[in-house]
Amino acid sequence: MEQKTKPILLDVDGLSVSFATDRGMVRAVRDVSFRVHEGEILSIVGESGSGKSVTLLSLLGLHDRKTTKVDGAVSFRGRHILDLPAGRMRAIRGKEIALISQDPMTALTPVYTIGWQIAEQIRAHEPVSARVARRRAVELLGEVGLSNPGEAVDRYPHQLSGGMRQRAVIAMALSCNPALLVADEPTTALDVTVQAQVLDLLLRLRKDFGSAIILITHDMGVVAEVADRVAVMYAGRIVERGRTEEVFASPIHPYTWGLMASIPPLSGVRLQRLRSISGMPPTPETIAEGCGFAPRCAYARAACAQRPPLRRAGEHSALCVIDDGERQSLRRTALAVEEPA
Ligand SMILES: Nc1ncnc2c1ncn2[C@@H]1O[C@H](COP(=O)(O)OP(=O)(O)O)[C@@H](O)[C@H]1O
Ligand SMILES: [Mg+2]
Repeated sequence: MEQKTKPILLDVDGLSVSFATDRGMVRAVRDVSFRVHEGEILSIVGESGSGKSVTLLSLLGLHDRKTTKVDGAVSFRGRHILDLPAGRMRAIRGKEIALISQDPMTALTPVYTIGWQIAEQIRAHEPVSARVARRRAVELLGEVGLSNPGEAVDRYPHQLSGGMRQRAVIAMALSCNPALLVADEPTTALDVTVQAQVLDLLLRLRKDFGSAIILITHDMGVVAEVADRVAVMYAGRIVERGRTEEVFASPIHPYTWGLMASIPPLSGVRLQRLRSISGMPPTPETIAEGCGFAPRCAYARAACAQRPPLRRAGEHSALCVIDDGERQSLRRTALAVEEPA
């Protein structure tokens, strides 16, 4: 696709995030780098606790500045945004960058109608009258697929279903036509049908408005459906990255194999938990030296105690000690488990 030639919108370089705890500083995000090009959908995927939300919240300046130490460089449209004063960062969020979180209720206030909330958001950034802002709110609610936007605009959040609320939050995020939409597990709380509709909506937004999207998920099935590129995150690091087709065609990292083997079948029961990778991800205090995945990896060896080498084929790369020759057969076994012959 032509995405490669598009300008870089967001450039994250060597981002590390540590928290002050009772037991000293703990590092939850370790030297994370990635880029998002204009109009592109990048998915960051990994199990719960991998550091996905911490990465996003800290680069958007939404971390607690008293207890969190953020290192690295983040530039958005060529501006360094990591050290901006809170007020300047707030002005960028909601205008140029919009955030959609997992729980739509955190973005909505229960005591105001959704129309009022969207209109306020518009008026916070643009000098338009209340009437114009309201009309825009109705249009946006229509665009995100609310069936009767003229009526929905006067509803309170609790009067809408979960799926409708998430659409309302997306409408709010879009109200300022952001260049970058950051969606942190936007479909996790929704049932499967609504989930598919919300993903469709995100794809449509990119098409109609040209927004770039960072989509955080723990579900490789979601990645396959919408992402142009994918970054697989484990124990605070990006362990594999590449164009979605490349990563799915020849995943390099055993952790990625595990995530892929856990994609639920199209029909049948959707599992709540990943079933293919035994054990639990570490907390920031207990991340292993060398390869963080080694303690759960079926193919771990002594060398995994050292920082793993970068395996690379063009834009597709991963951090793993297993060499190209050995990988083929291990991967075949790892992925065959879930594939009925
Ligand atoms: N404020 C904090 N203080 C200490 N640890 C935290 C804090 N916020 C998150 N963590 C820890 O950092 C790790 C990564 O969390 P998070 O980014 O929320 O994971 P996820 O990939 O599920 O979004 C988790 O182990 C979490 O418990
Ligand atoms: Mg999270």
